[in-house]
Amino acid sequence: MQPLLMNTAIVLVFLLTIIALFFFILTRGALLMRELSSDPADEKSHVYPIYSNMRLIKLVDYQPIISAILLFQYKRLVTKIVSGIRQLDLQNKKVLITSCAFGDVIPRVVGAALQSGADRILIADLVDNELINARDKLGNHLERMEFIKDDATNLQLADGLVNVNVMFFLLHELPHHLKLRALDEAGRMLTPGGKLYLAEFHRPDPWVLRALSWTYFKVFEPYGLALWDTHDPVDCLQNLGGWSYQRSTYFFGNFQVISATRI
Ligand SMILES: C[S@@+](CC[C@H](N)C(=O)[O-])C[C@H]1O[C@@H](n2cnc3c(N)ncnc32)[C@H](O)[C@@H]1O
Repeated sequence: MQPLLMNTAIVLVFLLTIIALFFFILTRGALLMRELSSDPADEKSHVYPIYSNMRLIKLVDYQPIISAILLFQYKRLVTKIVSGIRQLDLQNKKVLITSCAFGDVIPRVVGAALQSGADRILIADLVDNELINARDKLGNHLERMEFIKDDATNLQLADGLVNVNVMFFLLHELPHHLKLRALDEAGRMLTPGGKLYLAEFHRPDPWVLRALSWTYFKVFEPYGLALWDTHDPVDCLQNLGGWSYQRSTYFFGNFQVISATRI
C-alpha cells in the first residue's frame, strides 16, 4: 500500500475509534457505571449524560451528526411525521412532543402543528437542559409553547388532553417495562381519534445490516434490541388495545414510523 493511503487509513481508523469511544462513554458506559453506583429506582438512571450536560448537548446537536447517526434517514422520518400532522385539522387543539430529540425534528413538528391550527404545543422531557435546548430552536413560536419537566412514563397531565403526540426515538432508550408504560401514557394523553406518531429503530431485512445493527445495540444502546421482537411497538400497542395503526419502514427496514390512532 502507498504511504499516503496507509496514513489516511490509519487516521480514519483512529478517528472512528475515538468517536466510538466518545459515544460509548456517554451511552452504554454511563449506564454500566450507574448500575454499579446509583439507586436503581432513580427515574433518570436510563438517561444518557449526552442529554443532561449542556456542553455535551451543544457538542452533539448538529444536523449532519444526527443525520449520520440515523444513517441519513432522519429527514425522511421527520417528513413522514410532519406530512401526517399537516393533513390534520388542529384548530383549538393541543399537540404534545413526548421527550426532546436532537436535530430539527422539534422545530419541524412545531411548524407543522401551528400550520394545521394547533392552539398549544407542549414539550415534555425529564431533563431541564434538553427543554432549554429545544426552546433555543423555536425562536418566534414561543408564545404558544409550554415546556414541561415531566416523565413520559408517568405524565402529570390530564387524560385526553392532546390530539397529537409525537414520540421520536424515545422507546429504544427506555428499560423494557418503561417502554410499555410510555405507550400506555401516550394512549392516556390522547383524545379519541387522536394520533400518536412514533419513530423508532426496526429489525432490518438484510442479514448484513441486521448484524451491524445488532452489534450497534449490544455495544451502545442495550435497551434497543427488544424493539425487534419482545417489545415491537406495534405488538405492544395491539396488546394494550384501543389503537389502530399503520407502520412504514425505511432503509431496508432499519427504521419505522408508526402512525397510530386512538380508538
Ligand atoms: C427522545 S430521546 C432522542 C434520541 C435520539 N437519539 C435523538 O436525539 O434524536 C432522548 C430524550 O428523551 C428524554 N427522556 C428519556 N427518558 C425520558 C422519560 N422517561 N421521560 C421524558 N423524557 C425522557 C431525554 O432526556 C432526552 O431528551
